[in-house]
Amino acid sequence: MKNENVLYSVIEKEYPEVDHGEGMYIYDKNGKKYLDCAAGIGVVNIGHGVKEITARMAEQADKVCFVYGGTFTSAVRRNLARKIIDVAPEGMDKVFLCSGGSEAMESLMKIARQYQIEAGRSTKHKIIARWQSYHGNTIGTLALGGRPSWREKYEEYFPKNIMHIPPCNCYRCPYGLSEGTCRTQCAQELERVIKYEGADTVAAFVMEPVTGTTSAAVIPPAKYMKKVREICDRYNVLFCVDEVITGFGRTGKNFAVDHYGITPDLIGFAKGLGSGYVPIGGVIVSRKIVDTIAAGTGSLTHSFTFSGNPIACAGAEAVLDYINSNGLVEKSRSMGEVFLKKLEVLNKYPVVGDIRGLGLLLGVEFVRDKSTKEPLDFNFSAEISSYCFERGIMITGGVLGSADGVNGDALQIAPPFIITEEQIDTVVSMLESAIEFVMQKHGIEYKA
Ligand SMILES: Cc1ncc(COP(=O)(O)O)c(C=O)c1O
Repeated sequence: MKNENVLYSVIEKEYPEVDHGEGMYIYDKNGKKYLDCAAGIGVVNIGHGVKEITARMAEQADKVCFVYGGTFTSAVRRNLARKIIDVAPEGMDKVFLCSGGSEAMESLMKIARQYQIEAGRSTKHKIIARWQSYHGNTIGTLALGGRPSWREKYEEYFPKNIMHIPPCNCYRCPYGLSEGTCRTQCAQELERVIKYEGADTVAAFVMEPVTGTTSAAVIPPAKYMKKVREICDRYNVLFCVDEVITGFGRTGKNFAVDHYGITPDLIGFAKGLGSGYVPIGGVIVSRKIVDTIAAGTGSLTHSFTFSGNPIACAGAEAVLDYINSNGLVEKSRSMGEVFLKKLEVLNKYPVVGDIRGLGLLLGVEFVRDKSTKEPLDFNFSAEISSYCFERGIMITGGVLGSADGVNGDALQIAPPFIITEEQIDTVVSMLESAIEFVMQKHGIEYKA
């Protein structure tokens, strides 16, 4: 047993100790430098060590570090909420704040339920979500998510009113159809389940507009999003999106739903807003929901001790200002295009099944056989990630199950928005060596 007291998730692993971060790089205590092509884990969108963020946090800390959000408001809390609404889709009205993605998605589930009760539809208590999704690691959000390997041990704890439909994944269409000619059966499945369950029992539908680590950057076609919005409207089901990873520029627009011109009813967010400088998350709530609750009981049956924490709000407001003044959402879009193009070189490998992405949320899916898309039965991307980490590049390996819930894995590439073309070249050439190394290790043939 290691002689220390931190309970790490891999209990006996020797983790390198971080010293500091600057721009695209992390430095450990031994002086080793890492190119952070993972933004931690889709978090540090503006890069490390930006002094104007920490200065604004310190300025707030000197004034007051904590007030309970149920007792006081603060200028930073108000300003932050206003700036979030300024970049949110038209029709979004108010922001509930908390400390991270799981809290955000738990809050979203509760607000959805409260809205339906206050709208006079109290029989609506079910939520429909999708397989191969991730919404957090609390009991409620694990039940909402569709990552079987992480759900397994806890299923006995799960609420029984959450059901799942297959995801929209054109590379692995659950119906064996192709995008150009299909009639979006995957969206129609939502309508089918609503009808089977009884429309009067379904409160909300929840999805990641572009997927995160469970399947790495799977992007739905516009017709899917449009149809899902229509179905939700038809049955008074709230259309809720999890933008915990995609929010605040990751996909090259402020929110992933902006690519589709769609206003959801609720948006969960976290990671990029604080950019790792502060732990913060929240829910953006549409006017219809705010007005209904305001005209009903008038108060949310929900709060956390750290909702609207002044230092978190000051840090997040500074991050938003920094993103705007440095044009970082546009950078995410343009560098994402460059990165995606450069990744195409990986297509020469028999194990690379799909390369995809939007903005700087990119994915590379690995397969045993390119033509049949049969997945590998081991976690190829996790081995790629370890190879790169040992050689000073951080990149996120996937979780097994991205193909069919059991097998398949995809690498998630989600660097800070400040990545340069030269750094992209370094990453791509490291990926080439990593793929060749892991293929050779597993006896997978490849002739250059
Ligand atoms: C899409 C999505 N939702 C929710 C979460 C949970 O966020 P957190 O780990 O901050 O609780 C994550 C985290 O990776 C995520 O990617």
